[in-house]
Amino acid sequence: MNEEKAKKIMEEISQRFEHITDLKELIDYKVEQLGKKGKITTLQAGIKDAVDKKEYGKLVNTVKNHFNEIYEAKMKLLEEFELKKKLESEKIDITLPATKVRTGSPNILEKTVEDMENLFMSLGYDVVEGPEIEEDLYNFELLNLPKGHPARDSQDTFYLEGDKILLRSHTSPVQARTMLEGKGEKPIRVVCPGKTYRRDDDDATHSHNFMQIEGLLVDKRATLADLKGTFDVVAKHLFGDDCITRFRPSYYPFTEPSVETDISCFKCKGEGCPICKNTGWITISGAGVVHPNVLKMCGYDPSIWHGFAFGFGLERIAMLKYGINDIRTFYNTDLRESKVFDRRED
Ligand code: DAH
Repeated sequence: MNEEKAKKIMEEISQRFEHITDLKELIDYKVEQLGKKGKITTLQAGIKDAVDKKEYGKLVNTVKNHFNEIYEAKMKLLEEFELKKKLESEKIDITLPATKVRTGSPNILEKTVEDMENLFMSLGYDVVEGPEIEEDLYNFELLNLPKGHPARDSQDTFYLEGDKILLRSHTSPVQARTMLEGKGEKPIRVVCPGKTYRRDDDDATHSHNFMQIEGLLVDKRATLADLKGTFDVVAKHLFGDDCITRFRPSYYPFTEPSVETDISCFKCKGEGCPICKNTGWITISGAGVVHPNVLKMCGYDPSIWHGFAFGFGLERIAMLKYGINDIRTFYNTDLRESKVFDRRED
């Protein structure tokens, strides 16, 4: 190889580099020249047959350096170019409107339960739960409702096994369970939310499955007046500070005396309207002083211990609070309903 030939090779190299447009092509070209069987590698190997080895070596080195120099420069250029291309293709347009993420909202009934639980916890009550599949013993017997008692009729329910196991018709059996656990020694302050079942025809205000929150307080000094005070706090919390409460005499086998607890109509303030059926009052729970028989059957000595109890219908509270006029709204799965109630509260 002479100087002229080396020049020609270098020219060819320069020209070829000019046509290379991407990194893969560039690397392939390097292999073509400097790989094991590459052109420059072969030239290098030819030194052993050269007459003037020194001159030959110098020329081959010049060719090789020429190649490497352009290769490095081209590599840098192409890398920059590819990076730019990548950044451009991944460009995010931050002015585009964001994709809407659909968020859920709490079930309105669940929200009402939590609200009641929090209120009672702030008054020192514990939240306890009982089974929905219950024994006749707890649902009726221990609550002073022996077999054949006429008051059982109003709570006709679903029996699962003979006449012993049933779907609880109210949350009151949790009272009996809690007292038996207290073994006649411990004072009790509990609320018990949960599902209940009755053989009812379903309509706008009745459902065979609904929720209650039961309350029980047992202590050495607990009176109807304490119950009235407690109910007053609950009513004001739920329906506002100007809500007035009243008790009406009633009958439940497990309380004596028994009352229906009413609030003044929050809509018409006593004037009379469709919500209060023109009476000015709305009944929101049953309650009373725990019957001595119940205390006794559940292990508490009625000459020492006294108590009061109450049971709210949770759907009823939520319906009044959120202006819902069909109980079935709670059980269909139309998510738009809960969105509407959410907005109403804001
Ligand atoms: N268990 C009753 C019902 O479902 C409601 C009730 C009334 C609960 C009086 C009580 C109470 O704890 O004292 O109709």
